[in-house]
Amino acid sequence: MSLEAFRGDILHFLQDPDSVPLAESYQYIEDGLLLVEDGRVSATGPASALLPELPPGTPLNDYPGKLLCPGFVDTHIHYPQTKMVAAYGEQLLQWLETYTFPTEAEFADRAHAAAIAERFLDELLRCGTTTAQVFGTVHPESVDAFFAVAEQRNLRMICGKVLMDRNAPEALTDTAESGYQQSRELIERWHGKGRLRYAVTPRFAPTSTPEQLEQAGRLLREHPGVHLHTHLSENRDEVAWVRELFPDCAHYLDTYDQAGLLGRRSVFAHGIHLEDAEWQRLAETESNIAFCPGSNLFLGSGLFKLQRAVQQGIRVGLGTDIGAGHTFSILETMADAYKTQQLSGYKLTPFKAFYLATLGGASSLDCQQHIGNFEAGKEADFLVLDPAATPMLAFRYQHCASLLEKLFVLAMLGDDRAILATYIAGHCAHHRDDTDTH
Ligand code: GUN
Ligand code: ZN
Repeated sequence: MSLEAFRGDILHFLQDPDSVPLAESYQYIEDGLLLVEDGRVSATGPASALLPELPPGTPLNDYPGKLLCPGFVDTHIHYPQTKMVAAYGEQLLQWLETYTFPTEAEFADRAHAAAIAERFLDELLRCGTTTAQVFGTVHPESVDAFFAVAEQRNLRMICGKVLMDRNAPEALTDTAESGYQQSRELIERWHGKGRLRYAVTPRFAPTSTPEQLEQAGRLLREHPGVHLHTHLSENRDEVAWVRELFPDCAHYLDTYDQAGLLGRRSVFAHGIHLEDAEWQRLAETESNIAFCPGSNLFLGSGLFKLQRAVQQGIRVGLGTDIGAGHTFSILETMADAYKTQQLSGYKLTPFKAFYLATLGGASSLDCQQHIGNFEAGKEADFLVLDPAATPMLAFRYQHCASLLEKLFVLAMLGDDRAILATYIAGHCAHHRDDTDTH
């Protein structure tokens, strides 16, 4: 039995702040203690109460004035696009042709895929993300490489091979049959292995035939518990193209619905230009949306209607959508989320933003039994946030009069530098190198 204690201010969410009175949605313990036993949370409480009870010799990690919170969850990101972050000048469809497809073609090489996976996971941990739902490429090797690296680091990760059997370069296409077979083999090899799970991953409706989407549905039926991860209604030209390609579908979401792809473990990235019937159907099927504000701004895709999702009771998680987004930082993504919602006339509170980044994201990925907060028994993936990470953040934070203000300032001014340490199952997986930051 290994018991370890972590002392600092503690913040975690118990429920969605939109579903209960705010005070019931979170727990904030100034000078708290987080106890971790064998990689899981065993207790949290005031340090004054818990310290005297600790068995003598229990290691104590003291983080005075720092904030301990659950690891961030990124519900939509592409690891193969790490190399092409910040690609200039295009919106979605031209951006895919010009930058994305050539970059993804390199992932036929397993060694290249493994090197990028290492780099990608280093960067996620540096930015405080401990769980992500991740696109591979069409190559099964890309997923084998990713899962092997994630497994070695004991990370809770979801990944899948891209299904793409039309409207893409030859080197990046599979067929309905080969995509099915390769996905099945990957599911058998990886789904449920340690902390890993598989997501059936059709890229988006324009690059899959109806037959391929059918096969994706078959994979979900044959393997209960696997996830579904794709894009939906991100860009106006894309939506018009889907109409042409699927004349028998009522709307974009219907291309997936007809194939049986909607449900509790399905995540649709973006959902910016949805019709009423699509909102309705997402709600009815308990499907989830990945809200990726940085990407939506970068590609000029539009503004996500978060308020509508809240009203419809649709679960939402945050996504960076690297490489259409250009930051791995969920703190920076919260700032982009706030600003996009300002433009939509909706006030995103910092409580809701931190909820979305932690328990909300975990819930979107149906991982809330394992991660997302500090309830006893949860896996101890957590962060040490540093409110003095930069001179400006330190100065501004001193002048905060409430928890709301502190969290808001952390989200608006914070970035990778605010992540002092990232712990995975109680083990330190990243510690900021202060010779780099000051
Ligand atoms: N739609 C289809 N493929 C992609 C992708 O790689 N990134 C984004 N943002 N949207 C997509
Ligand atoms: Zn994406």
